[in-house]
Parts: sequence; C-alpha cells; structure tokens
Amino acid sequence: MKRQNVKIGLFGYGVVGQGLHDVLNESKGFHADIKRICVKHRNKKRRLPMHYFTWDKQDILDDPEINLVVELIDDAEEAFDIVSTALSQEKNVVTANKKMVAEHLDELIRIQEKNNVSLLYEGAVCGAIPIIRNLEEYYDNELLYSLRGIFNGSTNYILSKMFNENRDYEEALHEAQKLGFAESDPWLDVSGTDANYKLSIIMEHAYGLYIRPENIFHLGITNINSQDMQFAREKGYRIKLVPYAGRVGKNELTGFVLPRFLTADKKLFTVENEYNGVVVEAAFAEKQFFYGKGAGGHPTGSAVLSDISANSFFYAYEYKKRKQNLGLSYTTDVILEVYFRYQDKKDMDLLDFDKITESYTGPEYSYRIGKIHLQELFEKREDILNKDVSVINTGFKPEKR
Ligand SMILES: NC(=O)c1ccc[n+]([C@@H]2O[C@H](COP(=O)([O-])OP(=O)(O)OC[C@H]3O[C@@H](n4cnc5c(N)ncnc54)[C@H](OP(=O)(O)O)[C@@H]3O)[C@@H](O)[C@H]2O)c1
Repeated sequence: MKRQNVKIGLFGYGVVGQGLHDVLNESKGFHADIKRICVKHRNKKRRLPMHYFTWDKQDILDDPEINLVVELIDDAEEAFDIVSTALSQEKNVVTANKKMVAEHLDELIRIQEKNNVSLLYEGAVCGAIPIIRNLEEYYDNELLYSLRGIFNGSTNYILSKMFNENRDYEEALHEAQKLGFAESDPWLDVSGTDANYKLSIIMEHAYGLYIRPENIFHLGITNINSQDMQFAREKGYRIKLVPYAGRVGKNELTGFVLPRFLTADKKLFTVENEYNGVVVEAAFAEKQFFYGKGAGGHPTGSAVLSDISANSFFYAYEYKKRKQNLGLSYTTDVILEVYFRYQDKKDMDLLDFDKITESYTGPEYSYRIGKIHLQELFEKREDILNKDVSVINTGFKPEKR
C-alpha cells in the first residue's frame, strides 16, 4: 500500500506532546519528522533545541512543506481556530482535543468534506483504547444496541480511592491531582463534562447522530459521599461514572452520563483507578469489552501516533453510520431507575419520581429508589448540584416512557 512521507507541524509540547515525541522516537516501524513545534510560553525550559520551537502559529500553518498538523494544546477555542484553518488550507490534522471535537463536530465534518482532507482524533476518546477506529471500521455494518464505559480516568481514580480506602472526596481528589491524574482545575473531569464530550463523539461514530454535548444529560461525581459508598458496599456494588448511549424502541437513541452502581458480574466493576473501559453491545458480535489506560502522555501519545501512521496511508473517517442514515432520532423521553440520597428531610421531594420502589429513612441519611423521567433530571440538575443529595443510576436498561 502506498504511504506518504509525513512532515509534522506540532502544536503543544505538554504531557501529550512530549509523550508523542517519546513514542515516535521509540517506534521502529514508522518514521515521521516533526519540523516545527508551536507552544505558548517563551521562557519555559524545553527538552529539545530551541530552533524547533515557535510561538507564531503561522510558522506552521503557512509552511507548504508541512503536510500534517498535530494539535495537542489545552485551549479548545484556539485549537478550533488552528484545526479549522489547517483543514481549510488542505493540511490533514490529528488532534486529541475532545472538547474542541465534541463542540464543533458537524462543522469539522463539513470542512473535511469541502477540502477533501482528513481529521483523526482517536486520542481524544479513552486514550489508548482504539474505540473510534473500531466503530468506523470493525462495527461499520453492525447494529449497535448500546455503548457504555468508564471514559474518565481521574473520576475513576477518585471513586476507587473513596471505595477501597475509605477516603473522602476532597482527599481522593487531592491525591489524584498530586499524581497528575486530575488537572489543577478538575471541574471538567469531576462534573462529568469530559465524559460527556467523549460520549457525544462516540454517538456520532456508533449511530451517525451528532448530539451536541449540552443536549446530553450529565452529572458527575461531586455529590457522591461516604454514605453512598457505604450503601454500595453493603449491597456488593461499586460506584463508577458511566456514560451510556443506546437504542430505545426501534428508531430512537438516548444518552446520558451518570454515576452508576455496578454488580460484581459486570466487566466495568473491575476497572479501577486511572483505567478506562468500554462495553459495546452489538446484535451479532454480542458483548465486547475494551480495557486500557485512558490518559497520560504515553498511552495518549500512542493513540496519536496510530492516527499519524494511518494518515500516512491516506486514512480518513468516512462517517459511515452518518452516511448509512439509520433513521434514528435522539430522545430524552425515557425512564431510568435511580437511587436518590438526601440528608435533609425537606429535600425528600426534590425529584418527582414516576414510581418509588424502595424507600429508607435513617438517622444519618435517607434514600429513595425509583423510576424517573430523564427530562426530570435535566430540569433538576442545578438543584441536585447545589444540595447535599446524590443521584446514582441503578443500571436498569432505559425504557421508552
Ligand atoms: N493529558 C492527558 O492525559 C490527555 C489525554 C487525552 C487527551 N488529552 C488532550 O490533549 C490536549 C493536550 O493536553 P496536555 O495534557 O498535553 O496539556 P498540557 O500538558 O497542559 O500542555 C499544553 C500545551 O499546549 C501549549 N499551548 C497552550 N495554548 C497554546 C496556544 N495558544 N498556542 C500554542 N501552544 C499552546 C502549551 O504551551 P507551553 O508549553 O508553552 O505552556 C503546552 O505545551 C488537550 O486537548 C487534552 O484534553 C490529554
């Protein structure tokens, strides 16, 4: 198969940029030159000679010799500007920026088609787990019932520490930050926003529907406390942050990000600390499970390298499910079963359940378990976040109302 020589213009030389550099240096089978690296701060110490670096993006974007832009910066707005300009100037792009991709996916697809160029972003979703290319190439003709998983290593690390070592939330978060698993501003991770971006990208490749992140309900782990952990322990469950996308009825698709109870027979139960996992349920292939490191310089760098190599063989996503036009529409008109824990009696009726199946009132905390409309969770999201309450999906399959 024909392969083109790749001359890379790299944006960003942080955790992933340097990780990619290491992975490229160690790679035996593939060679690509990094010609220029654009970074932000002039006075930072760099591992490479300074003649590689520039602070002016045009040095890369206007260089006709550079045929591949690799975008690994931590500023999604600026990243969109760089990526859309590069694609419009007929340069192929590889990125790991999930926020940028999830917020602009429709437009990015349009720009690729218009300019006949390729944008690849495996590193943006679950680090080293090759889920996007598998959805595009392996499951291209499969009927997918659902996808769910652990898409965020920081939150999984925090929940593992809370569960296994009885740490409180703040303590576990602090430790995750110290070890570099959580950002100094961890909000995107702990609020479930990062998982939400990844779910939005996965839904495009699995079902051909682009659902903007703000239209997917998401609740992170900030409200989970030791009483929820105690409840889970007593029942033999673990709590994980589990994004879900799946079909309801014949022609509809739903999606959400919620903490969830998992029983010991579930694959995701075993995914601990900074690891990620993805469960794909398909009509013919049946259930499959992907497991691996979801973040970090080298795991993400390896996904970026795989995209760079694929690009050298002229690979582009075909957005096959979008083209197949599966006739699906997105709905939030579904019923879930959730556990709702509250401290204060006056919060007891915060959520309007369709049906309550279990109820407990105790001196320390109280809870209700029951069926609830997803739209009700959307409407009460701010109230939930601002009160000493928690909402955890029990894991029953979402049903059409
Ligand atoms: N870290 C992970 O494990 C991971 C995993 C998957 C995906 N990602 C994604 O990968 C991307 C990079 O993450 P990271 O963790 O490597 O970030 P990082 O360590 O904070 O590094 C960011 C890099 O971007 C540069 N930069 C920021 N703004 C810039 C601008 N306007 N122009 C040029 N360079 C700019 C910075 O320059 P200076 O060096 O001068 O500060 C730095 O080199 C993000 O989109 C992130 O979401 C990260």
